[in-house]
Formats: sequence, C-alpha cells, structure tokens
Amino acid sequence: MTEVKADYRLVIDNLMDLTHETFVHSSSIGNAALAEAPFEAYHGDRTARVERWVLDQPAPPFWAGQLGHDGPADRWQIINFLAPATIYLEVGVAPAGTGAADGDRSKGVDMRVVHLPTPSTGKTCYYFWAHLRNYRLHDQGQTRRVLNAGSGIMVEDERVIEAQQRAIDEHPDHVFYNLNIDAGSMWARRAIDRMIAAETMPALTPAMAAE
Ligand SMILES: [Fe+2]
Repeated sequence: MTEVKADYRLVIDNLMDLTHETFVHSSSIGNAALAEAPFEAYHGDRTARVERWVLDQPAPPFWAGQLGHDGPADRWQIINFLAPATIYLEVGVAPAGTGAADGDRSKGVDMRVVHLPTPSTGKTCYYFWAHLRNYRLHDQGQTRRVLNAGSGIMVEDERVIEAQQRAIDEHPDHVFYNLNIDAGSMWARRAIDRMIAAETMPALTPAMAAE
C-alpha cells in the first residue's frame, strides 16, 4: 500500500486507460504497439470493462522477461472495474499464434493485478495493490522480482497521478473532455456518481413514502 496525494478517482482513470503504459512505463511494460492497438469497452450498472489485444508484436521488456521469449507475442490487457473502487487487470503475453486470443492462454504467462484505491481524504487515497500470477508459483526470487518491478512501475504512476491532482487544484475551472479511449473511465465514473447520489439522497420518511 502507498498513500497517494490525489483523489482516488484519478487512480481509477489511470487504470481504465492502460495506453498510458506506452508513455509512462516505456522502460518496462509499455511500447508503441500498445497505443496503436484497438480496444473494446463494455459496461453494466456497476461495472466497466476494457479489453485490448496486441497481436504478433514484440513484447516490452518486462513481459519478454516473464515469458522468456523475445519473439513476436500476443498480449492481452483486460481491465475489469467494479464500482466504487475495485479494479482487477488480466494482463499477460504468450508466443504469437499459440491461441491466447481464442481463449487458451496456457502457453503464456498470465497475471491478475488487483488495485483497491481507498479515499483517505477528498484529495488523498490509500492505494492497495497486489500482483498475482499463475506461473513459477514456488519461485520466491520470481515473486521478489515481480514485486520490485511492480513497485517501480507504481512510483511512475503515482508521480503522474499526483501531478494531475496538482494541475486540477491550480486550474479549478478547467473543463475536461473525453477522448474515445476514455470510455472505460467514463463508465466507471458514471457508476461511482450514481452510487454517491444514491447514498446522499435524503432518506424517505414513512409519511413521505405514503404520499
Ligand atoms: Fe501505470
């Protein structure tokens, strides 16, 4: 867990568009192929999901290392949001053409990354996160390496997210607009807004309910 000096919803925005990896995490998990790949966004009342596949491209350094394979890879990023603030990512890579996109990820390395930003104040949050994997389960060195890599990546995210909060504070009248790629965060924020509205609506008294 780390404490981040930003509204927890900025953490959610960051996770709902993993295109940021291309620009913020270029030495580990980002590359140009990711930003160029198409995506699909879905949503329910309390959920949002963004799915993206990068097929037949070299994996970025972290993932090539996990896979032990430098050749072309199929990469997946599936972002699952449950309001108000639970996100788990399905992320991984497999050697290109081994069936991952058709549902068989068994030739690759598959991770779940759980993110649980929890407000501590209106402009700060506790950022709980965990990496889970389905390979080399008993290799403690591997666990340590993934933790170290993940911690470094998280520091990069925190710097950007805190800078966003500062920019918002300095320009409170700035109007935001959404791009296509913001579909995931837009649906997430709508679900959060609905929950907040429901919680802050005055409770009906029996007399009001009878009217
Ligand atoms: Fe990130």
